[in-house]
Amino acid sequence: MRYAVTGAAGFIGSHLSETLLAAGHEVVGFDSFTDYYDPALKEENARHLDVRRVDLAADPLDFAGFDGIFHLAGQPGVRSFGEVFPLYLTRNVLASQRVFEAAARDGVRVVFASSSSIYGAAERYPTPEDTPPQPLSPYGITKLACEHLADAYRRSFDLDAVVLRYFNAFGPRQRPDMAFTRILLALASGGSFELFGDGQQSRGWTYVTDVVAATILAMEGGSGTYNVGGALEASMNETIELAEQISGRTLDLHRRDEVPGDQRRTKADTTRVSTELGWVPKTTLEEGLRAQWEWASTRVGGR
Ligand SMILES: NC(=O)c1ccc[n+]([C@@H]2O[C@H](COP(=O)([O-])OP(=O)(O)OC[C@H]3O[C@@H](n4cnc5c(N)ncnc54)[C@H](O)[C@@H]3O)[C@@H](O)[C@H]2O)c1
Repeated sequence: MRYAVTGAAGFIGSHLSETLLAAGHEVVGFDSFTDYYDPALKEENARHLDVRRVDLAADPLDFAGFDGIFHLAGQPGVRSFGEVFPLYLTRNVLASQRVFEAAARDGVRVVFASSSSIYGAAERYPTPEDTPPQPLSPYGITKLACEHLADAYRRSFDLDAVVLRYFNAFGPRQRPDMAFTRILLALASGGSFELFGDGQQSRGWTYVTDVVAATILAMEGGSGTYNVGGALEASMNETIELAEQISGRTLDLHRRDEVPGDQRRTKADTTRVSTELGWVPKTTLEEGLRAQWEWASTRVGGR
């Protein structure tokens, strides 16, 4: 198959592209190497990939000849109030509208990376897909808008689209703004870690290769909306304890006030993705965190 992967230079997109290539597919990446975090890290992620520098929100898009589009590009991160909001509108809402428009025109199937952030303070845990969305952050609101756009293009222009709601992914190359990378780099370098809130906030984590497996299964067979991951629930305090055990070091921890837009808890109900797509996550929190520690400590250059 010939696949387009948007956001191919990013954390999940680069893992996805490598897995597709290893399975014998042809992969063309599309990424504008935004400066949400250091673009040099994205260059490193993409160094074995064919990634075209394309801004999905502005440049002409042509997906003719592709068998599918994995649309992972976007502006992530829940700290999305204030002056940064236009970036969320452009890189999530506008970029996705343009991808869906081009995909519908060219008759190409799309798997879209949405987020558990659309649930906000969910009414139920574990959270099934039909839970009413109540996003707490502008980021979550833009992802929900993208989901509605995919649906509008499906209804009006027969767009073949599947929506995946990723729950917190982790593993090597995790973004530098995400908790595990910040904790592990602090442990590896001897730097400090700022913990926002009381540490009892918990996340449903998913190892990146399990996220990638679900994403490929969704391209091959799914329809509608699926939660992806989020079964490995751990509070920040538990995560820090596990990271300290794995590294054999003590974290220099600084407690700070909770940040607006942060969810108290995420935990997915994965019944749908398991029964319909046969997805079975394989990596435990400890195995995954160990692999991420290996990566983080190598980056810092020694333990
Ligand atoms: N990592 C997670 O735990 C998680 C959880 C939920 C949802 N998601 C979503 O999954 C996707 C991938 O996440 P990630 O953690 O790999 O993020 P990432 O920031 O590492 O990757 C996103 C990539 O998209 C690119 N991009 C942004 N705007 C673009 C544009 N206009 N044109 C072209 N490229 C553009 C960026 O340069 C970046 O390389 C994102 O859409 C994110 O919102 C991630």
